[in-house]
Amino acid sequence: MKPIRIALTKGRLEQKSVELFEQLGYDCTAVREKGRKLILPVYESNIEVVLAKAADVVTYVENGVCDIGVVGKDTIMEMGGTFYEIADLGFGRCNFALAVPDGVDFYAGYHTRCIASKYVNVARGFFERKNMDVNIVKIEGSVELAPLLGLSDAIVDIVETGTTLRENGLVVAEYLAQISARLIVNIASLKLRKAEIEPFISQIEAYLQR
Ligand code: PRP
Repeated sequence: MKPIRIALTKGRLEQKSVELFEQLGYDCTAVREKGRKLILPVYESNIEVVLAKAADVVTYVENGVCDIGVVGKDTIMEMGGTFYEIADLGFGRCNFALAVPDGVDFYAGYHTRCIASKYVNVARGFFERKNMDVNIVKIEGSVELAPLLGLSDAIVDIVETGTTLRENGLVVAEYLAQISARLIVNIASLKLRKAEIEPFISQIEAYLQR
């Protein structure tokens, strides 16, 4: 029988997802001992785990090549897409924030600000809601560098512990949204493979409500 494919976001969310699945009684030995392998079986189940980057988890689930995904709300907010967002898994908690160099009043003056972010759509939406005209520059990682180097006035990025901001002389000017890991499901899969997928989702929901 065709396995149920679950795409996990590699890294921190992968670890937490594996812990969750083990709590539910699934044998994730193969995922824990994966080496460089990217598709792993969950022994004695019809589940296969696929390890992918966050944006690719959304792409694979949206296209139905994976039935289920675990991905951060940050990626969902940035990418949008057509799938069911079934549950807030409660881990991977952090915030989207607008951050500026310490001592800078972001809203003082009238010049057009430059904002650096990996999340250009989230940043654009935030400033559109404020009716504020800004220039947005896409940065791929370590966005905190952009204001330090003089490229931008501020950043829109994820803040978890606040350490990266602090160690680079930046402070939060405003929080945009709370983020955590979400369980997403392909729309057709939920309909066509309901009998296999629903018990898994129910198990997760029951665990989250315990
Ligand atoms: C994220 C984010 C911040 C940092 C925040 O980066 O972009 O840089 O974590 O965490 P903190 O508040 O606990 O310091 P990540 O480590 O994912 O790497 P990246 O910068 O390459 O995206």
